[in-house]
Amino acid sequence: MTSIAVIGPGAVGGTVAAWLAQKAEHAVTVCVRTPFETLAVETPEGTITATPRVAASPQSLEDGGLSPVDWVLVTTKTYDTDGTMAWLDALVGPETRVAILRNGVEHAEPFAGRIDAERLVPAVVDIPAERSAPGRVLQRRNGWIKVPAGAAGEAFAALFAHTPIAVETVADFTTEAWKKLALNCAGAVNALILKPAGVAQDEGAAEVMRTLVRECVAVGRAEGAELSDDLPDQVIAGYRAADPGSVNSLHADRAAGRPMELDARNGVIVRKGAAHGIAAPANAMVVALLNAAAL
Ligand SMILES: NC(=O)c1ccc[n+]([C@@H]2O[C@H](COP(=O)([O-])OP(=O)(O)OC[C@H]3O[C@@H](n4cnc5c(N)ncnc54)[C@H](OP(=O)(O)O)[C@@H]3O)[C@@H](O)[C@H]2O)c1
Repeated sequence: MTSIAVIGPGAVGGTVAAWLAQKAEHAVTVCVRTPFETLAVETPEGTITATPRVAASPQSLEDGGLSPVDWVLVTTKTYDTDGTMAWLDALVGPETRVAILRNGVEHAEPFAGRIDAERLVPAVVDIPAERSAPGRVLQRRNGWIKVPAGAAGEAFAALFAHTPIAVETVADFTTEAWKKLALNCAGAVNALILKPAGVAQDEGAAEVMRTLVRECVAVGRAEGAELSDDLPDQVIAGYRAADPGSVNSLHADRAAGRPMELDARNGVIVRKGAAHGIAAPANAMVVALLNAAAL
């Protein structure tokens, strides 16, 4: 039996927890802020359900003998990292591996002091999913997850072997993470003007998005990512091909009055750029404006 705890079973966490629980040899626990009885995920393959153990506090894990576990999957938003740490303290033993399924390029940083590098698995996730209620998720595509090559990455991929989610180990994780960031950083335009993907048809909005991505490419290259010159155009082509009504999570978070992953998606370009002497004024501007708008 492989024990797996998912911290933050929202859109991504609920989807992966439900898929992982489809295998009898997996004992899945979800670590929740908002409790629910069952997980039901409407997937491209049909609706799947699961009844994982639900832990509402780190103390309940210890009391129930549910820790330490073989695997922890962190699927909270980047702005909920502090609340995640108490769970980790309760779940992690000397053999526990910890996967971080989040956007951005700083998956490992917050956890590096607590978990040894060889047991930490950063993951780039492309599984479009939305939560309609606690434990209720719509998974729009089967999607994919990319993790670094190596023993821990291979073991992570094996957890998903029975699922339609394509989990791949990659030799150059840095490049994969920055490619996803290039897509995500452009989404600040949607969040700023509160208009979904279709606004990229407008050449003026598209050019602002390209400028954000050009800065991301410059900083990503300085960080060692291999990013092509036409990545800004590829990002715009992707936005234009998408459902014009689709709303990215930064936009959705702002519209709902929630915190935003602004630092992880745009602030990071400014911060890491500064460390390399590369200015990122467009990203700095969207960060300042979105922060000010949230005041
Ligand atoms: N959704 C997507 O399509 C998608 C695609 C690719 C990547 N991502 C990335 O994946 C990450 C997760 O995003 P998401 O869309 O899955 O977010 P989400 O739906 O908001 O889920 C986050 C979950 O974390 C829970 N949570 C927050 N603090 C907690 C705590 N202290 N203890 C336990 N649970 C806690 C939330 O609880 P509540 O139920 O109380 O809110 C929520 O269920 C983000 O970095 C996002 O950018 C998302």
